[in-house]
Amino acid sequence: MELKNDQELAMSPVVANCRMNRERQLCGGNSYEQDLRLNPLDFLNARLEERQPVRWLDLCCGSGRALVEASQQLSDVEITGIDLVDMFVPGGSSNLQLIDCRLEDWRPPQQYDLITCVHGLHYVGDKLDVISKASSWLTVDGLIVAHLDLNNLRHNGHSTFGRKVAQALRDAGLQYDSRRRIIRCEGRTEITMPWHFRGSDDNAGPNFTGQPAVNSWYEDV
Ligand SMILES: C[S@@+](CC[C@H](N)C(=O)[O-])C[C@H]1O[C@@H](n2cnc3c(N)ncnc32)[C@H](O)[C@@H]1O
Repeated sequence: MELKNDQELAMSPVVANCRMNRERQLCGGNSYEQDLRLNPLDFLNARLEERQPVRWLDLCCGSGRALVEASQQLSDVEITGIDLVDMFVPGGSSNLQLIDCRLEDWRPPQQYDLITCVHGLHYVGDKLDVISKASSWLTVDGLIVAHLDLNNLRHNGHSTFGRKVAQALRDAGLQYDSRRRIIRCEGRTEITMPWHFRGSDDNAGPNFTGQPAVNSWYEDV
């Protein structure tokens, strides 16, 4: 099997296509609230009662619709969205920054109270690296909520590699909800995984979302 590097993956029709759902709104149907089982407004408002500024980072933000809506309702929250594709909707307030950039190339200028990734990791190459890095970008009591399909994690030596990864994440203090396929990380965490990223297979076919996704292949360190 020929594996793609990150530059090749970014050009893949599985990653760069206009069919995927980039339009989730903040709350209600087809929303972050619905898919994450977390209302970002409630979470961020609760944080605002404790301190300011409060920061929300959304990885693979798509059109940024949810963030534009949040920026209009939460003027004291600094909101940042990152996406490979510059297809952002207009209308965000001055507290919103939408950045077109590959996740792998981006470095955070600060720590975040909330980091989300709504159906974005399915298209990323080194998913474990993104999870590890994002865990270190949290404030001490910050929260990550992100979708992860364990079937998209592969290793030649392990037929059930995803389960090994889930155990390693739990050992590091993260939670994995296998029914909803959501990882949660509460509080800044340093994660060291015993695997190297080999490359991506963009011919993996559909994952639990029903959309073609990317398998990420690993080997032992
Ligand atoms: C299914 S869409 C979800 C978008 C948004 N989170 C939503 O729910 O509406 C996945 C997004 O991930 C982005 N993406 C994929 N690989 C990426 C990467 N390496 N860096 C940044 N964004 C990426 C795609 O451009 C796409 O907008």
